[in-house]
Amino acid sequence: MKFFIDTANLTQIREAEDLGILDGVTTNPSLMAKEGITGHDKILKHYVDICNVVTGDVSAEVLATDFTGIVEEGEMLSSLHRQIVVKVPMIKDGLKALKYFDKKGIRTNCTLVFSAGQALLAAKAGATYVSPFIGRLDDINQDGVDLIHQIVHIYRTYDYKTQVLAASIRSPLHIVKCAEAGADVATCPLSAILDLLKHPLTDSGLAKFLADARKFSEPVNR
Ligand code: E4P
Repeated sequence: MKFFIDTANLTQIREAEDLGILDGVTTNPSLMAKEGITGHDKILKHYVDICNVVTGDVSAEVLATDFTGIVEEGEMLSSLHRQIVVKVPMIKDGLKALKYFDKKGIRTNCTLVFSAGQALLAAKAGATYVSPFIGRLDDINQDGVDLIHQIVHIYRTYDYKTQVLAASIRSPLHIVKCAEAGADVATCPLSAILDLLKHPLTDSGLAKFLADARKFSEPVNR
């Protein structure tokens, strides 16, 4: 499973890249605003800055909601850098735009997906990635990981090439459950990735190994 980081924060992106396990980045307008990245030119420059930090795909979201606007914005975003993947919302005009981009060879990430039916449409339209938001489903008392299982099953049954990108991940358990479900990618906050490292038995085991090593490296009095 590929690991993407879900942030527009360059420090966090660099930290994840330095771990050596990062495969890409997803952003959205809320994440850009959180970093104080506002205004057309600043936003475009920030996408390029992100692409220069990582080697993998970087999702950049369109703000237009009509077919012509989505196509114009998507083509402009895609021309910024070869790593850019155009993020398109799962709406009627978005669906049409996904098909258009597919024909043009422009890679896409269909976002705001909350049902298997929406994921089926995204695959039929030729989306490169589909982003089911599992945390937001959990928030309304629906099991988000169940949706990942369902989409993976449908895509494998019909051999759709669209990659399942589990999004809205909140915890290390979410990441592991998505891996078990067969997600192609999980896009995660840095904290959830770092939490995967943690286990109390690792900490206590290491402390004991180091203590024993110190004990046996002390000079022995005969
Ligand atoms: C996906 O690409 C989105 O940016 C993201 O995962 C949304 O997560 P949230 O529900 O934590 O905002």
